[in-house]
Amino acid sequence: MILVKDVEKSYNDEKVLKGISLEIDDGDFVSVMGKSGSGKSTLISIIGGFLKPENGGAYYDGVCIAELSDAQLSKFRCTELGFVFQSFKLIPTLNVIDNILLPAVLNKSLDDESKEYVNELCRELEIDTMLKKYPEELSGGQCQRVAIVRALAHKPRVLILDEPTGALDSAMEKKVMELFKKVNSELGTTVIQVTHSERVALYGKRIIRINDGEIIE
Ligand SMILES: Nc1ncnc2c1ncn2[C@@H]1O[C@H](COP(=O)(O)OP(=O)(O)O)[C@@H](O)[C@H]1O
Ligand SMILES: [Mg+2]
Repeated sequence: MILVKDVEKSYNDEKVLKGISLEIDDGDFVSVMGKSGSGKSTLISIIGGFLKPENGGAYYDGVCIAELSDAQLSKFRCTELGFVFQSFKLIPTLNVIDNILLPAVLNKSLDDESKEYVNELCRELEIDTMLKKYPEELSGGQCQRVAIVRALAHKPRVLILDEPTGALDSAMEKKVMELFKKVNSELGTTVIQVTHSERVALYGKRIIRINDGEIIE
């Protein structure tokens, strides 16, 4: 279970998260919605361990992610967590397949089964012909799909998605959302997604709304 408890975060003395608490059970699929600037990306960055709050914290089965060592955090990210950033954060000097396989390579868990799973995901999201290309040679939508496959490749226990279909056309959006739904129901992966789209949000089991750094429902 993930417990977010009394999280407060400020930038330059301006409080952007004002005491956020929520519980996310294993196997849940939560959609986080709210206006631009309301603190959604900040919240999921804290849950993913990429940012530290001033007060409160995110706990995985009782362990505060902000208190992990750098080595523990790297291991967590390569095994338990899949994170799709709003800006994708692909590594420009690595080609598509090396970007996707990097977590498994770092974690020394790359085997034939995981390679086959990655191939399947690449075919499904129609990036299988681009594996040797570099991020700068891809469109935004293609980069987003590479980031999605990278996040799914190691079958994480928790998948955190920041507007994961923002660069996709509606047909691909549907494919990607069906894939997240399948991973949630068949592998039991916990999914937390930020989205602006009510249509995308409805793929989740529940919706949490944030306004000005606070949960409103
Ligand atoms: N690194 C940063 N430095 C300063 N201000 C930031 C930074 N990141 C986000 N903010 C500010 O914090 C607020 C919340 O941002 P964010 O969490 O990205 O919102 P959302 O994802 O809901 O659009 C915004 O006012 C934004 O300008
Ligand atoms: Mg955001």
